[in-house]
Amino acid sequence: MEVIIKENYEELSKFAASMISEQIEKKPDTVLGLATGSTPLGTYRELIKLYKENKIDFSKVVSFNLDEYVNLLPEHEQSYQYFMKENFFNHINIIPENYFLPDGMAKNIPQSCVEYENNIEAHGGIDIQILGIGSNGHIAFNEPGSSLGSRTRVKTLSKSTIEDNSRFFENIDEVPRYAITMGIGTILDSRLLILLASGENKAEAIAKTIEGPITAMVPATVVQLHPKVTIVIDTEAASKLKGKYLSEPAKLLLN
Ligand code: F6R
Repeated sequence: MEVIIKENYEELSKFAASMISEQIEKKPDTVLGLATGSTPLGTYRELIKLYKENKIDFSKVVSFNLDEYVNLLPEHEQSYQYFMKENFFNHINIIPENYFLPDGMAKNIPQSCVEYENNIEAHGGIDIQILGIGSNGHIAFNEPGSSLGSRTRVKTLSKSTIEDNSRFFENIDEVPRYAITMGIGTILDSRLLILLASGENKAEAIAKTIEGPITAMVPATVVQLHPKVTIVIDTEAASKLKGKYLSEPAKLLLN
């Protein structure tokens, strides 16, 4: 597990974007796993910038998002499909047939979850999975208590996540209660995980994720089991860590 502490959100975003663009350069048909929320927005902005400077080509890239609300139309401003188009897909040359999100409007949700898993597999699996982290330690919508081997399925949002996400809705009653989410097992199948966190309100969850015991009560702690994880955080999110960590990958410092 590599922990990289950046000075601020901007530096963190640039670093995450450079990891993704290097991967796409090496493998143009990279399969990306994408997240929504505030944290990856800066990374998406940087990637759009690189695209506009002709430094990155998304024409062969495939992507799978981690999650989507149940019963929110794709056109709804708070649906994750809308979010991804507004903040990323509409600004790059990814082919619309090549990006996928769980279908929160599916008639048969359990079946659509199985199909989502099969589709990831049919594309050869996820090369890089971007993750944010909830203040309660959730990854995607795998809330505390989620099975560590779980696959894509419907989850009930916890009270703290409904509260956290209410900032995007007019009032807390409008926050959907259910979401489809990749499972923890699905996430662990990705070849590389990049977990991003910024700000003081993530410091506790980050300290537990990096230095605490693995527990279903803090789902992000499972990243400790993955052979290839880079955790990129800013100084505020790092403020409760006890260990010493670098600001650049060890391999760069060795060069
Ligand atoms: C979103 C997702 C969530 C967020 C998490 C942090 O696709 O998977 O787990 O990453 O809730 O959200 P922000 O970044 O808004 O603090």
